[in-house]
Amino acid sequence: MHRFMELKGKVILITGANTGIGRVTAEKLAQRGARVILACRSKEKTQPVVDAIKASGGDAEFVPLDLADLDSVRAAAELVLQKDEPLHVLINNAGLAGLRGQTKQGFELIFGTNHLGHFLLTELLLPRLRNSAPARIVNVSSGSHYQAKGIDFGALKERTKTVTSMAEYEVSKLANVLFTKELARGRAGEGVTSYALHPGMVASDAWREIPWPVRPIMKLFMITNEEGAETTLHCAASDEAGKEDGLFYDKKKVREPNKLAHDEALAKELWDKSVEWTRASPVVV
Ligand SMILES: NC(=O)c1ccc[n+]([C@@H]2O[C@H](COP(=O)([O-])OP(=O)(O)OC[C@H]3O[C@@H](n4cnc5c(N)ncnc54)[C@H](OP(=O)(O)O)[C@@H]3O)[C@@H](O)[C@H]2O)c1
Repeated sequence: MHRFMELKGKVILITGANTGIGRVTAEKLAQRGARVILACRSKEKTQPVVDAIKASGGDAEFVPLDLADLDSVRAAAELVLQKDEPLHVLINNAGLAGLRGQTKQGFELIFGTNHLGHFLLTELLLPRLRNSAPARIVNVSSGSHYQAKGIDFGALKERTKTVTSMAEYEVSKLANVLFTKELARGRAGEGVTSYALHPGMVASDAWREIPWPVRPIMKLFMITNEEGAETTLHCAASDEAGKEDGLFYDKKKVREPNKLAHDEALAKELWDKSVEWTRASPVVV
């Protein structure tokens, strides 16, 4: 077990914290004294988690966030920035798999949710993270990113092409790793370190689109949400990870990512396109 930094007085925002890995991450960080902001798309699903954290003596708050709608991302960031408090850790945990479609602004659904929404959220919250340094950005990626063969930028502005949306998921998770690397190349700024990780194969709600009886059988071979949250907690709060920047983690250890993750030109192209695609009406706070 690695040593954790002192979390009393720390403010940590976690996306998709109403269930699965994100929920456990929020609960564990709150237990250790952090104030946690749960940025999620459903108040109905999130309020019971906020209430449970508060009932155990923790400090938690719900902020509405739909990552598939860039206006909602701007509104969520604005709400956070209006608070007169620091932001020490941003955990981009929410993720979508197994569905097809387009986001509100017309981007491929899985990429738009898993990468583009988080890109804009991070960009808008970066000034607050910098002012709160030392600060961290944790991007929950996946081992699936190893399967990605590259990024077809044209496809990212269209409806999901494949039937299972697995190929799109792999690209979105490679984007999480490229984004992390690019943040660490000086984009995040002084005192802000970035991390990407694979949580393991976790028996969370992520498999909701897999039909019965395959789903319960698959879940028998997976780790629990508690175990799945460990690598996120390591990146977000361990003293050891605090000394590292721009790396990929699996089972709380640094692991070599897909070799495409080292492609600086690809990372820059993804960054530039993400800026262009999220720039439409920048929020002013
Ligand atoms: N489970 C695994 O084996 C596994 C493996 C590798 C990587 N991961 C990654 O781990 C992360 C957490 O996944 P999980 O396993 O805990 O899955 P989960 O139980 O399905 O939780 C996913 C979370 O993301 C939220 N979300 C989805 N679309 C959203 C949107 N448009 N706006 C805001 N929030 C949205 C969900 O909200 P709702 O509840 O409202 O839908 C939920 O809170 C994801 O990034 C996933 O890709 C998981």
